Amino acid sequence: MSQREATSHPIERGNWSSVLGFTLAAIGSAIGLGNVWRFPYITGKYGGGAFVLVYIGCVLAVGIPIMLAEFLIGRKTQRNCVGAFQKLRPGSPWVVTGWLGVITGFVILSYYSVVGGWVLHYAFLSLKNSFTDRPPEEVSAMFSGLLGSPFLQIFWHTIFMLLTIIIVARGIYGGIERGNKIMMPALFLLLCGLLVYALQSDGAKAGLDFLLSPRWDQMSPTGVLEALGQAFFSLSLGMGAMITYGSYLRGEANLFRSSFYVAIGDTLIAILAGFVIFPLVFTFNLEPSAGPGLIFQTLPVAFSQLPAGGLVALAFFSLLTFAALTSAISLLEVVVAYFIDEKRWGRTKTAWLIGGIIFLCGIPSAVWGYFLGLMDQIATNYLLPIGALLIAIFTGWVLTHSERRSEFESGEIRALPYLSWSFLIRFVSPVAVAIIFIYKLGIF
Ligand code: PFF
Repeated sequence: MSQREATSHPIERGNWSSVLGFTLAAIGSAIGLGNVWRFPYITGKYGGGAFVLVYIGCVLAVGIPIMLAEFLIGRKTQRNCVGAFQKLRPGSPWVVTGWLGVITGFVILSYYSVVGGWVLHYAFLSLKNSFTDRPPEEVSAMFSGLLGSPFLQIFWHTIFMLLTIIIVARGIYGGIERGNKIMMPALFLLLCGLLVYALQSDGAKAGLDFLLSPRWDQMSPTGVLEALGQAFFSLSLGMGAMITYGSYLRGEANLFRSSFYVAIGDTLIAILAGFVIFPLVFTFNLEPSAGPGLIFQTLPVAFSQLPAGGLVALAFFSLLTFAALTSAISLLEVVVAYFIDEKRWGRTKTAWLIGGIIFLCGIPSAVWGYFLGLMDQIATNYLLPIGALLIAIFTGWVLTHSERRSEFESGEIRALPYLSWSFLIRFVSPVAVAIIFIYKLGIF
């Protein structure tokens, strides 16, 4: 019997082939629409520079410690996010944290797939060379055309969800690992190329000013909560996605280092996207706080003016589709892993069934923009912060010092990183999340 067959959850569970494969998959989960679609428009809404600073603070003080906590819980238990809490504290109410993760994955994927569909639609428009030689107003207006057509949105939502299901049904390794190694660096390089163009545009100074000079008067408790929610959304935290990915990892890996790589890579891409978008927003006199349509209204205008812009647009939207897919599969995987581990369902059947139900739940988001916004608000401002708070309290206060330490030290033996992480996960992360949350609810 091979080693994999000898485990209690044979074959269906799967494993990463290497630590590098795992780290890249975690980066793939983190980098997605959250960086290129959500980060710029939320930054635009909450005042630019001040938001960026608060965001970076959230990533460092709260995001990285919680990511490491999720990785450790996953690797220690080798289970999905519900099973992980059950295994660590059998019969305790902490299992609710896992349930919350499954529900959050469900909610986020339902509308994430609709936005993924928008990206696919734009990839298709680029393929038809639809932006070239059109006036900027016309290119910008294509987005309202898409929003006004429930049929088009449901069509692309279907395609996006089908792709997600097919990949998840085939298992966690294979295509995902390999694809990540090529596509993520390609997305980074393309964004760097677009940055060179954006920095030469007329609006470069105004755009950079917007991103770099903090206007604290525009920062509110809601803005801080948004920054925190955005950090969790972008880093895929607070709903057990990183627990699930960590659970496919065996042996000793330096997870402290992996969590830094993921956080740095993710933040870099988000900020890079901001540096590309805002100069273009000011060049073409668009509204920085335009909302969810921001990248779809700005970038195609720039592509329409670029030499070989049709090709650049195609490359950009294809890479963004890929980035969105590698995130969507981690969302679906959270839910699917639960049924595979706990209910012993087969992977293929589960992926199709659960994916199908999530697809149906996404239809209202495709039909009413308001509903999509509402789901996004509930998930990022409530579900993810609550999930992250529970994970931080569980790791910092429910797990014993020796449980934490022994898992941390499998792969990392120096004392200082442990002590600083332990301090952050016990005191800083839970207190920060709780204060921001309570403040936002108006309880103070
Ligand atoms: N981090 C992904 C993004 O930035 O697009 C979205 C996401 C994936 C959120 C997985 C949560 C999650 F568990």
